[in-house]
Amino acid sequence: MSLFRKKDLAAMLAQAEEGEKGLKRTLGAGNLIALGVGAIIGAGLFVRTAAAAGQAAGPAVTISFIVAAIGCAFAGLCYAEFAAMIPISGSAYAYSYVTMGETVAWIIGWALIMEYALGAATVSIAWSEYLNKLLGGRIPYEWSHSPFESFTDTLGVTHTGFMNAPALIILLLLTLLLIKGTQESAIVNGIIVFIKVAIVIIFIVLGWQFINPANHTPYLIPADQAPVIDAGGKVIADYSGVFKHGWGGVLGGAAIVFFAFIGFDAVSTAAQEAKNPKRDMPIGILGSLVVCTILYILFGHVLTGVANWKDFVDPLKGREASVAYAISTYMTGYGWLATAVTVAILAGFSSVILVMLMGQSRVFYSMANDGLLPKVFSDLHPKYRTPYKSNWILFVFVGAFAAFVPGNVAGDLTSFGTLFAFVLVSLGIWILRRKSPDMERPFKTPLVPLVPILGALICLAMIFALDAQTLKVAAVWMALGLVVYFIYGKKHSKLNN
Ligand code: ALA
Repeated sequence: MSLFRKKDLAAMLAQAEEGEKGLKRTLGAGNLIALGVGAIIGAGLFVRTAAAAGQAAGPAVTISFIVAAIGCAFAGLCYAEFAAMIPISGSAYAYSYVTMGETVAWIIGWALIMEYALGAATVSIAWSEYLNKLLGGRIPYEWSHSPFESFTDTLGVTHTGFMNAPALIILLLLTLLLIKGTQESAIVNGIIVFIKVAIVIIFIVLGWQFINPANHTPYLIPADQAPVIDAGGKVIADYSGVFKHGWGGVLGGAAIVFFAFIGFDAVSTAAQEAKNPKRDMPIGILGSLVVCTILYILFGHVLTGVANWKDFVDPLKGREASVAYAISTYMTGYGWLATAVTVAILAGFSSVILVMLMGQSRVFYSMANDGLLPKVFSDLHPKYRTPYKSNWILFVFVGAFAAFVPGNVAGDLTSFGTLFAFVLVSLGIWILRRKSPDMERPFKTPLVPLVPILGALICLAMIFALDAQTLKVAAVWMALGLVVYFIYGKKHSKLNN
């Protein structure tokens, strides 16, 4: 049996339309944009904007956002063409099954686990940190950190983490919501998106009056910028590297804020639940990307205008909870906003986790429907018609990561999985245009093959900018995936019949 056997597109679409037995079509264009924004605005904006400004880009983090957005836009255009043409629930996995064959599809499906499952774990760990912040640090260290983390307090007592309980709790609550139904989840997501977008806009509008033009000059970090040294004489930020100052720093910043864009592709996992996917999928994917890019640029402009970018490397200033720091330090009279921002961030993280968990269960659903994973992943709840067993298994898997693994480990792997999928989706568009030029395409990616090639190249460049350790772990994960494929997936694939 060929390694490159492909699924027939017509059969695939017919399977998706199995009517009563399938997922419910309940989502309109507005829901889809909300789903995208729900998955996009999160730790990337609220945590990594300041990190990118402080470590590499300075006030020009606004330009870093534009660079990262351009990379995402190329991939987004390709996703839009696929999602309108193949409106079934597996996203990149499903697209590559038709274009590049089963083995590549499996590899993508396996990489998407890194994006969605580990993405959900990463953000639930960030959620736990912010909850603790809101509660004034009252959650014991042991119960809010993984066993691989420890810290010594001012009395010289060393605390070692046991498990991250708040991360587990938020995952449990969102799993229950997802099981209840896609529409219910979409309603909750819509409310959260409203809150977090409102807070971002309020911060931009109110913060605008507190912009100090001196903080924006010079706009790029100068080549001779002195390193930042902490009270103990340790260098905590050094700007001599190519990607640490000037235009190189803008690129370095783009790699850091890329995380903030992850999630627009999650819209495509819900294609099978869209009422009118041909029209609404491109609107959902590209619309959410446009909305977020505009908000991000304005947000970056205000944040680096209110506080100086150098504050964002200083642990005694705005290195952590940067937005709350900028408000409480420089925006006199707006203390309430700092608390509101923290609450909105918690809500915002919840919707990111929600959409990531949903995306993962929909990818598993497709893989199980194809026989590549056990049927338990595609069993639907008799009443709610959601893949509830898959949701529970996912809770155990993601929960184990969230409870026992440090957040930074999961974060970079999330970027790897996402970029990897972007590369293959971009190439897939080009391949399918050549292979099946006459297929009906409700939305067409412009300038093929230029856009797909640029999309793939930019994403490949960002993959190689990840650190070596991440690439090694990712390689081991992908190798493990191939073993599972040859032991289970290949034998059970429905294409065998
Ligand atoms: N884009 C998502 C976030 O920023 C993953 O949290």
